[in-house]
Amino acid sequence: MDFKKLVSHCKEYGFIFQSSEIYDGLSAAYDYGPLGSELKNNIKQYWWKSMVQMHKNIVGIDASIFMHPKTWKASGHVDAFNDPLIDNKDSKKRYRADQLIEGYAEKIEAKILKDVVKAQKRFGDDFDEAQFRSTNNRIIERQAKIDHAINTMNKLLGDGDMEGLKNLIDELEIACPDSGSRNWTEVRQFNLMFSTQLGNIAGEEGKLYLRPETAQGIFVNFLNVQKSTRQKIPFGIAQIGKAFRNEIVARQFIFRMREFEQMEMQFFVRPGEEMKWYDYWKQTRLDWHKALGTPAENLRFHDHDNLAHYANAAVDIEFKFPFGFRELEGIHSRTDFDLSSHQELSGKKLQYFDPELNKNYVPYVVETSIGCDRMFLAQVGQSLQEETVPDASGNDSTRTVMKLHPALSPVKAAILPLVKNKEELVKAATDVFDKVKPHVLCQYDEKDAIGRRYRRQDAIGTPYSITIDFETLENNTVTIRDRDTLEQRRIGIDEIAKEVSDKTNINSLF
Ligand code: GAP
Repeated sequence: MDFKKLVSHCKEYGFIFQSSEIYDGLSAAYDYGPLGSELKNNIKQYWWKSMVQMHKNIVGIDASIFMHPKTWKASGHVDAFNDPLIDNKDSKKRYRADQLIEGYAEKIEAKILKDVVKAQKRFGDDFDEAQFRSTNNRIIERQAKIDHAINTMNKLLGDGDMEGLKNLIDELEIACPDSGSRNWTEVRQFNLMFSTQLGNIAGEEGKLYLRPETAQGIFVNFLNVQKSTRQKIPFGIAQIGKAFRNEIVARQFIFRMREFEQMEMQFFVRPGEEMKWYDYWKQTRLDWHKALGTPAENLRFHDHDNLAHYANAAVDIEFKFPFGFRELEGIHSRTDFDLSSHQELSGKKLQYFDPELNKNYVPYVVETSIGCDRMFLAQVGQSLQEETVPDASGNDSTRTVMKLHPALSPVKAAILPLVKNKEELVKAATDVFDKVKPHVLCQYDEKDAIGRRYRRQDAIGTPYSITIDFETLENNTVTIRDRDTLEQRRIGIDEIAKEVSDKTNINSLF
């Protein structure tokens, strides 16, 4: 579905609102509405259960957002958590230098794709794209421009060469997307951490950061958790919580926000065994996505070209968002970087005594890290569809339907009296609602014709609609309508709770 339509659908049905909308909104901050918070909770529950409940060697914590400022020195965030920033002097707009260069490359790639599509039409079934790309002179020239821009940029980023980045932007004649001007400032490093001040300490001493990742709350608690739970290596610590980044360019709705939520798990392993666990978690996390019915062609691995300061291997699970393949989750082999740095700066030992090896060591860490909001966008993006279905009189009609996995759907069952002006039907429907509500989240709706009410439930992804009609009054049965197949069948009132719970339970995903 068109991305703009998706955003307005999320607002219209109470999934996501712009933060502080009555004051014209705050950019890159969003509020989850009644249905959005249900969907988000279901995503979190799926993740938490799959990590903590399904692994006897993974436990969960909930660390505070504020941490001792030395944490961020040790983790490298004070010195190295930067993006290269550049301002356009005419438009006063601020950009990430690397994103400007990537935008330049994307434009050329779009031209290549146009030629590929044209050639495909011309040659039909005989068309060989790889051969065309490697022999067509115009494409070869354009690809060389892309490779030059991206390879040079990666080298300059790796070297931290800001002057070189500015020269590259000038050389490629990149203009401000807003004003078309090429009047740029120098490129400078911009630290992405938000800072604030402790109430009772003045100056630098009292400077606090809002955590830019949840992971550090796990690292500093490594020994507390290991000792209190008597876990043996290998074991993991999981956490879900807010993280904050002062993104220079925050856009694409909830894809890149300044306040967002992460679901992270740090898996502590013996040094030297990290690559085995890295491969294990790569596959396990991909399977987690696929279990929701996400088609394999919408997911892919992308190895990092530039490794972060703490990693010896890193891969993204990318998802095909409405604006193309982008990072959804990261799996990083973080070595012993974090624990060793905290050990050094705090002066406290963060080691594990391995009884089998009979020695102490600082464990290595493999981390899985996924943004809850990005997962939300991925799920809504892939499940929100417009399709043609027969209406009550058998004619074609278009419906908007959110084909979420039933375990993620915000509302599991709609309880609908066939008409609202028959007291006995309303009473019977209210009784059904009261009977089913302790088991699954239901929505009672009596407004409008039944067909319109079905469409409303389709639009929010409700997998089952239960209709209470005149036959219900005679034999205590109702119709149950399946969102995806549109099939309707009769079941007894006493069967509803079990039937809907069984089919919408998160356990069905394991
Ligand atoms: N602890 C490792 C870490 O934080 P990351 O790749 O920077 O790694 C992990 O972030 C995940 O957090 C990303 O894959 C993405 O899903 C999510 N994420 C990162 N920045 C985000 C932002 N500004 N808005 C929304 N989600 C974000």
